[in-house]
Amino acid sequence: MTATRTADLRARLKSLSRLSLADLPTPLLELPRLSEHLGGPRLLVKREDQTGMAFGGNKVREFEYSVAPAVDEGYDVLLHGAASQSNQSRVTAATAARLGLKAVMVGRQDAHAEPVNGNLLLTTLFGAEVHLVQSGEERQRVIEQLEAAGHKVYDTSSDGYYLRSVAYVDGCLELQDQLLERDLRADGIYLASGMHTHCGLSVGAAALGMDARIVGISMSPQDDTVEQGRLAATANHVAELLDLDLNFGPEDFETYGAYAGQAYGVPTSAGLEALRLAARYEALVLDPVYTSKAFAGMIDHIRQGQWNKDQTLVFVHTGGTPGLFAYAQEVL
Ligand SMILES: Cc1ncc(COP(=O)(O)O)c(C=O)c1O
Repeated sequence: MTATRTADLRARLKSLSRLSLADLPTPLLELPRLSEHLGGPRLLVKREDQTGMAFGGNKVREFEYSVAPAVDEGYDVLLHGAASQSNQSRVTAATAARLGLKAVMVGRQDAHAEPVNGNLLLTTLFGAEVHLVQSGEERQRVIEQLEAAGHKVYDTSSDGYYLRSVAYVDGCLELQDQLLERDLRADGIYLASGMHTHCGLSVGAAALGMDARIVGISMSPQDDTVEQGRLAATANHVAELLDLDLNFGPEDFETYGAYAGQAYGVPTSAGLEALRLAARYEALVLDPVYTSKAFAGMIDHIRQGQWNKDQTLVFVHTGGTPGLFAYAQEVL
């Protein structure tokens, strides 16, 4: 049954256009010292921070699918804009460099824009034209100017949106293969949840009949119920895109805003503790914005006794590590 499901899912994914950007499969490593220190379950980390290109991260895997239409349809500009330390802007610029396209970042002039470091430094290094702006109107103006100059602009936030989740259906297959090879099953999978990694893993797990609890920890404060609904809506689109007979409701998603702290991009003390623990016990580098908060959520659940020594958790390290260098003041 599992073999049929797996082959079927692989065939559906194969029918989609795909770029080659990432070094796959990413490693699945044990964290024995941390597991012992926490006195809890067996801990593994899926190293999506090691997808290779441009210091890696989940976007490299996602863009293999989501940027493929830009190439197929003759776009000549890849654009992205978010926080000044955006991982997605870095990977957008790197992807454009690989493909020989123009990269434009329209980011926010926020607290981590100066001095230029981390993701912003790399985005610039990969050759992106960087605009740091204060408002949405300024961003729109940059796009209009590019279009008026005859460019075809592919926005990596909105274009190919559902394909980013599709990439993590593929990621789920990869994880399943690695677990099966070691005769393991995951009782829980933790990750920094934005949208696509969480959705893709959930659709993949449902399609494959994996029964792990998938726990998303958000990096922004949120209404968890609203977020569960958003995740379910995206998962249903992804299932439809892959022609899978699956139907998701909000109750199929577990997501917590409680570990995000006061705002996106502002480290929490629990997140910084997690970042230090991972570094000191396993030489595992987390980032201050996403993965440290997610790791803190997992540690909290372990300390609450939600997991026992006979269980196995996989932490999906979604990357973001270049951002660490722009947060030296907060981390030290
Ligand atoms: C390090 C890191 N983790 C997690 C996420 C969430 O990404 P997604 O919604 O694509 O799963 C992001 C995205 O911005 C990120 O940079």
